[in-house]
Amino acid sequence: MQVWKDYQVQNKDRFLEELLELLRIPSVSADSRFNPDVKNCAEAVKLRLQEAGAEKVEVCPTAGHPIVYGEKIIDPKLPTVLVYGHYDVQPADPLELWDSGPFEPVIKDEKIYARGSADDKGQFYMHVKAFETMSKTNTLPCNIKFMIEGEEEVGSANLGIFIKENKERLKADVVLISDTAMISLENPSLDTGLRGLSYMEVEVTGPNRDLHSGVYGGAVANPATILCKMIASMHDENNHITIPGFYDKVQDLSQAERDALNAAPFDEAEYKADLGVEDLWGEKGYSTIERTGIRPTLEVNGIWGGYTGEGSKTVLPSKAFAKISMRLVPNQDWIEISQLFQAHFEKIAPKSVKVKVTTHHGGSPYVTPTDHIAFKAANDAIQATFGKAPIPMRGGGSIPIVALFEKELGLKTILMGFGLDSDNLHSPNEKYGLANFYKGIETIPYFHKYFAELSK
Ligand code: BES
Ligand code: MN
Ligand code: MN
Repeated sequence: MQVWKDYQVQNKDRFLEELLELLRIPSVSADSRFNPDVKNCAEAVKLRLQEAGAEKVEVCPTAGHPIVYGEKIIDPKLPTVLVYGHYDVQPADPLELWDSGPFEPVIKDEKIYARGSADDKGQFYMHVKAFETMSKTNTLPCNIKFMIEGEEEVGSANLGIFIKENKERLKADVVLISDTAMISLENPSLDTGLRGLSYMEVEVTGPNRDLHSGVYGGAVANPATILCKMIASMHDENNHITIPGFYDKVQDLSQAERDALNAAPFDEAEYKADLGVEDLWGEKGYSTIERTGIRPTLEVNGIWGGYTGEGSKTVLPSKAFAKISMRLVPNQDWIEISQLFQAHFEKIAPKSVKVKVTTHHGGSPYVTPTDHIAFKAANDAIQATFGKAPIPMRGGGSIPIVALFEKELGLKTILMGFGLDSDNLHSPNEKYGLANFYKGIETIPYFHKYFAELSK
């Protein structure tokens, strides 16, 4: 559509400036020191939605960080797309590994470097600018609702409550999200699923106080050693997870489905070189694409205990800790998996220590409906602007609210992400390609156009 193209070419620089302004707000949801920034960011999103032409725009308070809502209903008889995104970001640590400030965005090699550039400010903002393009050129083909939250990176617990309490306001025909990745701009892909998550923390206590490791070492169990052994035992020699019942509900894919996934372009040598590893690791019997898409995993996110300061201290620590998460696939239930983990962890603990297990948060896995007209609309939109049909792929990450959109609102979700796996999400030097940003803004209006046409 020429009007869209013209509008976007004319406003290209402003679109980027506005995104950079959002990226300067350190809206870290996990760390309460940033609470005022999170709130400012919500207000900034509200303002931008209003400017773009949205109505009933509101910063909705929750028990945690606020949710920004806005809508444009042009005709109640037309279909409605609910756009979801998140304006919160992960903590920027370790700060010393950033080449430039995480909240001082810079453009280098045609990429925007900043925390949140790809996850998810740069991506949800494409929807705001795509909406502006349609609304300012009077070409909106359907109704749009926006729900941009501030707690995705901490599990979306309050959004879960919000959607239960706002079913009428959130009535729509489909949910559209850009918060995932594609293979590349040359090989566009559409994610057909997300993994679920179950996030646990464990505490292992040995003696009732820290001890001199010379006086007591060798006679009393060291909780750090015990914790390492317990964690190590959770994968067997084939890297299968050893928690009893863990795989019971895992849906196996047919050979044809696996073949289709494995047909996606993947260069193992390049993958290893990018990560600086000599060899890959994972569950026996599955390819890397399968290991990160359709198989459940267990990861240690952090482990600590005893003395970790400068120099050395000879000590037998009283306690050791770890944060352990599991990625889940259909039809694993995250609450059930958390319980299985807890029971197993308590069972394998030797008598020489006490253990405490707590659940942080979780979310269910999701598979997108590839036979839905909205999936076809996304497919056709990408075909229109990339000149190539997208490759269906399973995403390895999680967006906990997506399963609830289906359960609470009866809505299917389409994942039309424009990031890249190599964008350093949650890592230092997070980046988002300018080309990805602009391509997203160009593609999204076609989704709405095709979705409206296919809904007739
Ligand atoms: N945008 C990601 C999820 C994602 C990334 C999906 C890449 C597919 C590909 C999201 O912001 C995220 O990081 N989610 C968390 C879950 C949350 C409960 C902390 C995750 O996946 O770790
Ligand atoms: Mn995200
Ligand atoms: Mn994230």
